[in-house]
Amino acid sequence: MLGNFCYSNPTKLYFGEDALHGLSEELKNYGKNVLLVYGGGSIKKNGIYEQVVEILKAAGKEIYEDAGVMPNPTVEKLYEGCRRAKEGHVDLILAVGGGSVCDYAKAVSVSTYCKEDPWEKYYLRMEDVDNKIIPVGCVLTMVGTGSEMNGGSVITNHEQKRKIGHVFGDNVFPKFSILNPTFTFTLPAYQMTAGFFDIMSHILEQYFSGEDDNTSDYIMEGLLRSLIHSSRIAVKNPTDYEARSNIMWTATWALNTLVAKGKTTDWMVHMIGQSIGAFTDATHGMTLSAVSIPYYRYILPYGLAKFKRYAVNVWDVTPEGKSDEEIAKEGLDRMEAYMKEIGLVMNIRELGVTNEMLDGIAEGSFIMDGGYKTLSHEEIVAILKESMRDGQ
Ligand code: NZQ
Ligand code: ZN
Repeated sequence: MLGNFCYSNPTKLYFGEDALHGLSEELKNYGKNVLLVYGGGSIKKNGIYEQVVEILKAAGKEIYEDAGVMPNPTVEKLYEGCRRAKEGHVDLILAVGGGSVCDYAKAVSVSTYCKEDPWEKYYLRMEDVDNKIIPVGCVLTMVGTGSEMNGGSVITNHEQKRKIGHVFGDNVFPKFSILNPTFTFTLPAYQMTAGFFDIMSHILEQYFSGEDDNTSDYIMEGLLRSLIHSSRIAVKNPTDYEARSNIMWTATWALNTLVAKGKTTDWMVHMIGQSIGAFTDATHGMTLSAVSIPYYRYILPYGLAKFKRYAVNVWDVTPEGKSDEEIAKEGLDRMEAYMKEIGLVMNIRELGVTNEMLDGIAEGSFIMDGGYKTLSHEEIVAILKESMRDGQ
């Protein structure tokens, strides 16, 4: 049964090979000063930077640049971005990049005019925004996080060994996002595949909860089937437009808040993955892939009916002559084989995790309710140990 909810999503999307035309349209709605935010330089190599700057200049904008946003953006970088945004009296923050750049843009958007330390207010204390918000627009170049159509913003504090995501409200969602699948063609294979699993994990973490019948679970099964199909094509041929465009669209729907409405969710894989990220700075999607199979095998007995449904509806396991448990386990075996097939990291050791870190990673994993089992600290350590086992 669906619970009560309110749904709206304020982000306007432009999708397809011609999507960048939407930028000229959108720029008409904002003042002269634009903070152009981007990462370590991929957009200069693949020509996206030139295209965006040309459009900004044609629209008569004054461009303030804020480059060097790192994967897993840091709190120090956030303070720097706030200074830059304030100096430029910016009217719009234009993020050109992946989830890190979009997340960072949202963080600068809410923090520039914040009178307190934004790390403490928004990330440690999770408070609402009560100051001026600078609007954000996004040109997406990496697929996975869903940041292009949600209020999520994840910031890392290496000194405190904490990586924390604040899910801001509608007023912080990007005002518009440009989604051109060809912009993602230059992604290195490792990043591309990590993004695929980020999408899968977002869906699974909203799917594996509850025992009721609700529309969202059917939508998610469809999204998963599409993702599995297209990702297999994309790893062999990264410039297959059909596959990459379907994946881009799936990523957006996986985390634009729709499928979570009216149901419970289980974000523990992300909580553990983020804590691994705080200790290792590893690629986000790989921190999720490396712990997922041990996590799901562990919680399977507590949500057996759903794991059985997943095996049959997503992985086409034939149920005849098998117990519920056998069916459910076969589903996870197929998922594991698929993950290895597309080249995901399956062991946290590969991400730089050592035995000495396990207790701290578990400590830094925010324990959430909503899934089939609320984990204890010891259970998280046990799952981490399992994710370090040889053969994993
Ligand atoms: O910095 P550049 O040079 O641009 O290189 C980036 C970066 O090294 C590169 N890249 C991006 N587009 C490219 C490209 N290289 C070649 N061609 C292109 N077209 O890819 C690398 C990774 O980029 P990044 O933005 O870090 O990846 P992703 O999109 O996975 O974002 C990860 C961040 O998003 C957070 C993660 O925790 C992490 O900090 N998340 C945000 C969420 C949200 N807003 O809701 C939810 C997610 O679960 C996630 O936690
Ligand atoms: Zn994610």
